[in-house]
Amino acid sequence: MPSDEIDIPSGLILEPMVLGLELRRVEDPPGQGVRAELAAIRRGSHPLARAIRGVEGPVIDATTGLGGDTAVLASLGREVFAIERNPVLARMLQDAHERLDDRAQADRIHLHRGDACRILAEAEDPFTHPAAIVLDPMYPTRRSASALPTKPMQLLRELLAGHTTSDDTENLIACAFATRARRVVLKRPPEALPPDSRGKPTFSIESKLVRWDVWERGQSSVMP
Ligand SMILES: C[S@@+](CC[C@H](N)C(=O)[O-])C[C@H]1O[C@@H](n2cnc3c(N)ncnc32)[C@H](O)[C@@H]1O
Repeated sequence: MPSDEIDIPSGLILEPMVLGLELRRVEDPPGQGVRAELAAIRRGSHPLARAIRGVEGPVIDATTGLGGDTAVLASLGREVFAIERNPVLARMLQDAHERLDDRAQADRIHLHRGDACRILAEAEDPFTHPAAIVLDPMYPTRRSASALPTKPMQLLRELLAGHTTSDDTENLIACAFATRARRVVLKRPPEALPPDSRGKPTFSIESKLVRWDVWERGQSSVMP
């Protein structure tokens, strides 16, 4: 990803810290913000492991954000084509990537800055026929939420305010389904309805806070 000048929304700062670039509110003390994180983690039982089990090959994370899902996918040994369109997050991801000591983890992660729909159309081998495309668009704010969103999510909302609409999500889903990915994996709040246009997911993996809807495409469906 290029390291050109980027605009930080008012009220937020991006500061280099010992552990990496930190995004935080101007009124918060250093160390109280968020960083992108791509380090390997032991996540054999992570829902993403189940979502991609049974389909070999690289995975595309079309909404990389702070890198949490990309880190999980790369930790599972997958090559990951990680796309993020927000320039601040792209810079933070680049910084996190450069700081990785684990070269095997770093080599599995291929960062791309820009709109996923455009970049997916330009993907080259081995990403033209990925095992899966993972989509984690911003969740709509929950009207009856009993707990505040996590700090990283609050900061992401402030950073992306005005840049995300429900049309974006529909558009992303359409772009993912236009590829040759064996599976499309969509991360949603548990109460969200699956998108009308795509029919029932092949299977879903639910936790208290998140549901992963998985569509198997082309070949026969396999329940992991
Ligand atoms: C909820 S966050 C993803 C969080 C991420 N899964 C993680 O583990 O940190 C959604 C991200 O998708 C990005 N995004 C949304 N639409 C996009 C698009 N069309 N192309 C690239 N990135 C997109 C947003 O900028 C935002 O950073």
